[in-house]
Amino acid sequence: MRRKTVLDLQKMKAGNQKIAMVTAYDATMARLVDAAGVDMVLVGDSLGMVMQGQQDTLAVTLDEMIYHGRCVSRGLQQAHLTVDMSFMSYQLSPQQALESAGRLVKEAGAQSVKLEGGERSAPAIEAIVTAGIPVVGHVGLTPQSVHAMGGWKVQGRSEPEARQLLADAQAVQQAGAFCIVLEMVPAELATELSQALHIPTIGIGAGAGCDGQVLVCNDLLGLDESFQPRFVKRFAHLEGVVKQAVRAYVEEVRQGTFPAEEHSFHRASPSAKVQRLY
Ligand code: KIV
Repeated sequence: MRRKTVLDLQKMKAGNQKIAMVTAYDATMARLVDAAGVDMVLVGDSLGMVMQGQQDTLAVTLDEMIYHGRCVSRGLQQAHLTVDMSFMSYQLSPQQALESAGRLVKEAGAQSVKLEGGERSAPAIEAIVTAGIPVVGHVGLTPQSVHAMGGWKVQGRSEPEARQLLADAQAVQQAGAFCIVLEMVPAELATELSQALHIPTIGIGAGAGCDGQVLVCNDLLGLDESFQPRFVKRFAHLEGVVKQAVRAYVEEVRQGTFPAEEHSFHRASPSAKVQRLY
């Protein structure tokens, strides 16, 4: 089995096949989502919130992205691996962007890197792509600019905002990105962008007209029911399942019913059957 390449993903758009992308942050989740057939796995800097319990993505470092990228890479067999570039790992100069992207490929096993921003990020995208590293763009709501945007808001609702978003998406494509994430964009605008661009669009809160969709794995699995953004669909409710399982474990430990005989080891005796698990 081989990992999907940028060519496979571009062919999917050409063949009107939707692309399913999901985030993962460790090898176990990577193995599960890969086996379930996702096309792309994103090690998102959303790990700042999901894994680290922070309010936003801003404090995540490039070294942390590399660490989680490497873990996820070990769990994948067929899905394409994209790793996010952390805040301030590409904004200083195209040279800095290229150095950071190179580390994600060499140290984390990324097949492509994702960075936020439209026209302003075009020089960074161009430098990375010129060095032979595929880039995924990201426009609309860009969480690394949450303070500049004044919060987590839908982008491109007004006519001037929509025009700027179109210019941003085109600049990302022109700079050489092979794919672009559209986050929290009105569905009509995302459909228009998907038709205008020849690269695949991957939507999150951007309606059904995109060429693919991405969700944070913990959101789609319902691992945190207190987080309820409108664009998330829960495909499972694992928060309850996990709590119930752990409650049962606690109960059995307290009652002394776990571990049972089958979970226990015994001293060797001539008649005992030798059974080794490790
Ligand atoms: O960091 C992330 O998980 C993302 C996706 C939500 C697109 O950028």
